[in-house]
Order: sequence, then C-alpha cells, then structure tokens
Amino acid sequence: MEVVILQGSKQIGQLVADAIEALLRRKPTAVLGLATGSSPLPVYNELAARHQRDGLDFSSARAFALDEYVGLDHRHPQSYREVIRREFTSRVNIAEGNVHTPDGAAEDLPAACSAYEDAMRAAGGVDLQLLGVGTDGHIGFNEPGSSLASRTRIKTLIEQTRRDNARFFGSLAEVPHHVVTQGLGTILEGRHVVLIATGAQKAPAVRDFVEGPVAAICPASVLQFHPHATILVDEAAASSL
Ligand code: GLP
Repeated sequence: MEVVILQGSKQIGQLVADAIEALLRRKPTAVLGLATGSSPLPVYNELAARHQRDGLDFSSARAFALDEYVGLDHRHPQSYREVIRREFTSRVNIAEGNVHTPDGAAEDLPAACSAYEDAMRAAGGVDLQLLGVGTDGHIGFNEPGSSLASRTRIKTLIEQTRRDNARFFGSLAEVPHHVVTQGLGTILEGRHVVLIATGAQKAPAVRDFVEGPVAAICPASVLQFHPHATILVDEAAASSL
C-alpha cells in the first residue's frame, strides 16, 4: 500500500477527484465504490464542483455504496441511501438507477446481501473504491473481528462506533445496532482502493493498520494485501506513523 501524507482535506479531495476524473475519461462506464462519513466529503464536493464548472460527466457511471443501517426507512435522512444521494449523487448527473445501496430494510436480509454481491459482479466489479476508517480500524462497517475473507452480510456495531456516529442522530439511542456491509473480501476486489483518514483522532487507527500486523482485530490492515491501495492522510492522522 502507498501512504501519501498531504497538508489537509482540500488537497486530499483534489487528488482523489483527479483520479476519479481520469478514470471517467478513460472509462465512462466506470463503477465507483462510495463511502459515507465525513472523510470522503471533500472528494464529493470537488467532483460536484467539476461537474458544474467543467461538465465532468457521470451519465454512464455506476456506483455501489459500502454499507447501510438495518431497520431505517429508505427515506430516513440518516439512511446511507439518503446520505449518498444528498452528499454526492444528486449533485452530479449519475442516473438514479445506477446508484446502489445495500437494502437494510429488506425482509430477507441474507438474500438482499447476496443479491447485492450479484449486482456488483454483474456490473463488472468496482474500479475505484473510496473508504474512510473508523477509530477502531473498521472499514465499511466491518468491525474488529471481521473475517478477512468476509462478503456482504449483517453485522452488529460495537458501542464505540455507535457513539462515533451518534452525532448524525438525535441521540445515541436512535443509532441502529445492526448494519449490512460489504465484507473485507468484497472490498479487496475493488481494482483501486483509496482510503482517506483525516484528524488526530484517526492517528492510532492509521498507525495500527499501516504499520501493525494484518489481523482481524484491525480490519483496515487487510489492505496491506491489496495490490493497488492508496492511503491518503493529513498530517494529524499521520502523526503516529
Ligand atoms: C462509518 C462508515 C464508514 C466510515 C466511518 C468513518 O462507520 N460506515 O464507512 O469510514 O464511519 O467516518 P468518518 O469519515 O466520518 O470519520
């Protein structure tokens, strides 16, 4: 994996947008892997600006989100389907039908998980996968202890992740306990994986997954096995390396 230390999130947003722009110019039907959370926001803002300003074209692109809460209505403002739409896809010209999110409201969740894997495979796999990282080293919602070969499935959030994400909800009690997430094995199949980590609170996780052993206790460490993983960190997130 290649670790790139940049000054701040603006520079990170521009660099990742450059990679996505180059991909779309080379392959207009590219499949983007989208992440939620604050880390990818500078990328989405930059891509939306380039779409407005330069006509960067997403009309043939496809997108798959990493994860979703279980039990939230599709239109709940904190469902990742809504978050991705609000923060990114509604701001560019990607077709709504080309944007996929795991279905956390399905009656048969295991069937919905394998249908999601099938849809990703049918689309030809992810060309560029965006990732953030949790303070416990999770990627997607693969909490510590996740199998390194896991596929899309139901997971239970640990308390720290629920507390970290409570800022988006009215209270901690409203944060769902269960989620559906692409597995670590699924994420590893992305052709280029780009992980963004900013801020001092991410420094221990960055140190552990970049310099520590590959281990299920630190899910992001599985990226050490990926042949094309780029880790973009600001100086604060790099401060324990
Ligand atoms: C959530 C998401 C992850 C994200 C993480 C970090 O748990 N499921 O995909 O990486 O939050 O979020 P942030 O970028 O806001 O720190």
